[in-house]
Amino acid sequence: MTLELSSSTLEYQSGFGNEFCSEALPGALPVGQNSPQKAPYGLYAELLSGTAFTMTRSEARRTWMYRIQPSANHPAFSKLERQLAGGTLGPVTPNRLRWNPLPIPDASTDFIDGLVAMAANSTADQPSGISIYNYCANSSMQRVFFNADGELLIVPELGRLRIATELGRLDLAPLEIAVIPRGMKFRVELLDAQARGYVAENHGAPLRLPDLGPIGSNGLANPRDFLSPVAHYEDRQQPTQLVQKFLGELWGCELDHSPLNVVAWHGNNVPYKYDLRRFNTIGTVSFDHPDPSIFTVLTSPTSVPGLANLDFVIFPPRWMVAENTFRPPWFHRNLMNEFMGLIQGSYDAKAQGFLPGGASLHSCMSAHGPDGETCSKAIAADLQPSKIDNTMAFMFETSQVLRATRYALECPQLQTQYDACWASLPVTFTPNRR
Ligand SMILES: [Fe+2]
Repeated sequence: MTLELSSSTLEYQSGFGNEFCSEALPGALPVGQNSPQKAPYGLYAELLSGTAFTMTRSEARRTWMYRIQPSANHPAFSKLERQLAGGTLGPVTPNRLRWNPLPIPDASTDFIDGLVAMAANSTADQPSGISIYNYCANSSMQRVFFNADGELLIVPELGRLRIATELGRLDLAPLEIAVIPRGMKFRVELLDAQARGYVAENHGAPLRLPDLGPIGSNGLANPRDFLSPVAHYEDRQQPTQLVQKFLGELWGCELDHSPLNVVAWHGNNVPYKYDLRRFNTIGTVSFDHPDPSIFTVLTSPTSVPGLANLDFVIFPPRWMVAENTFRPPWFHRNLMNEFMGLIQGSYDAKAQGFLPGGASLHSCMSAHGPDGETCSKAIAADLQPSKIDNTMAFMFETSQVLRATRYALECPQLQTQYDACWASLPVTFTPNRR
């Protein structure tokens, strides 16, 4: 098996949850203390807390930054005229929903204007839940953004991005993901003409690697494959708009400098990226197949053991070898709520209708599974070892019921005939023949 990595000239530090250190100038990072009377090079020390000060050491996330100007140097924020697309939540529906990919706009649209709210199960003033967005963009941000409402999990489907953060730069391509901590300032630049993808905004506990239980000490997403940036600063005295999302609304102010001005930093509250092709996929080698939780890349736990606020789950290329087994994802009804997307190829539970860039939502207890065509083929298949290749579907799975936005329920991309994909399932019951 070959591991293809996106071409990138940027430097990274590898590991998950580490106490990273980085400095863009030699000696810029104070030694032995966080806030000396005079920081090196005349820099200001500033702490960014990602968790409450008093969390257990294993939960605590914070980063010390040494910057040209402290973040506090900004004028008052004003509410922006242009707010996030997608709007408020729509009427309640228990129905299964599926969308075609959203079109890339013609007008100049950056990553923030290109965010479209699709579903949510919380409001940003709550310490749990998620909000889900699509993004469609065709121009780089000229402004800098931070999200006071949660951390952001970015899943590109089309086009490469360069994400310039306070702690340094990440280059991101489809089949990679990035996570930006709550409150961290960043700018998304397009490395291709168009960009599209998905974003999960996590209002709950920060994402982390799942425990492995009987799997042991290796497998699934391995810590060393997570990459965080090295320090990179902009010493620019030029007007820059700083935008924040606060309780769901966009607010902006004008700075006279770039806020991406951190020369050195240390901490574990960091942006990171991960190449999904590095995922060590585990499955059955006998019969049946494990629950899809076996494909969990990252998880945001709740206070209830085993109940996730958000699981990020992927369905990567893999060998299918199970004997005497219905191999597609089984028919099921789930306590959890499943928002799915497709990054490339096709998904093995659907013969058609679920497209790269598209999405589906199956809420708590809504029945779903393979469509009629996939099911009939699976029952008739001559079961040989076979590989599902050229595919990457994913799921944002969450314990609180998601509601689609008004936009998501009214947009022309909503497939009105989704239920029909299960209507062709034939009755094969024969009481006199086992
Ligand atoms: Fe499901």
